[in-house]
Amino acid sequence: MIRICPSILNANFDDLPGEIEKVASTADLIHLDVMDNVFVPNFTFSPERTREIIDFSALPIDVHLMVAEVDEKVSQYSSKNAVSMTVHFEACQDPLQTLKNIRSLGKRAGLAIKPDTPIEVVEELLPAIDMIVVMTVEPGFGGQSFMASMMPKVEKARRYLEQRKLNDVWLQIDGGISLSTIETARRAGADTFVAGSAVYKSENPGSMVEQLRTLANDC
Ligand code: DX5
Ligand code: ZN
Repeated sequence: MIRICPSILNANFDDLPGEIEKVASTADLIHLDVMDNVFVPNFTFSPERTREIIDFSALPIDVHLMVAEVDEKVSQYSSKNAVSMTVHFEACQDPLQTLKNIRSLGKRAGLAIKPDTPIEVVEELLPAIDMIVVMTVEPGFGGQSFMASMMPKVEKARRYLEQRKLNDVWLQIDGGISLSTIETARRAGADTFVAGSAVYKSENPGSMVEQLRTLANDC
């Protein structure tokens, strides 16, 4: 199953309900990039604003926490309509416990790795992971180029999941997904795709989501 998750990072922040509505009939989840200006050199949403967005969204939310020392902060960013919450391996002191905490909030637990972090770090954490997120850009900004050099990590992650028959664990790619890169990511084994600028800089965001899905399904 393919999931397309538009990121609203490059949407109009003054009308987020309207921006979400544009993809409400075609997207699976909204990907919400939370940045704290510490873990990454950019700031997006406070915990309060994050919960507000989750609550008014017409679609369930996939929360991507690019937040330093995140272990104790996860619950501040949680609200009912969030289905998944992702933390960065690099920002956790105790990733295993933090992933367990996310599950105890009733959310799918995501673990993201930056481009310089090897995929092997996820291996021993797999029993606590519901989604592996391989970053194909340096986190912090939308609109960067897709790093095809990350595909061996995606392939290895897919092998981990197959070997352990972890069929319910999602494998997400975040960064630079577009009509020209989604097939590469799909062939490497990803099933869940974040797309920010490709969707929100297109004339018709809803139809762009459909086009991305069709490409991923057909390859
Ligand atoms: C980058 C964010 C991404 C970003 C993707 O730090 O995690 O989710 O919004 O945007 P595009 O698709 O433009 O690379
Ligand atoms: Zn993201």
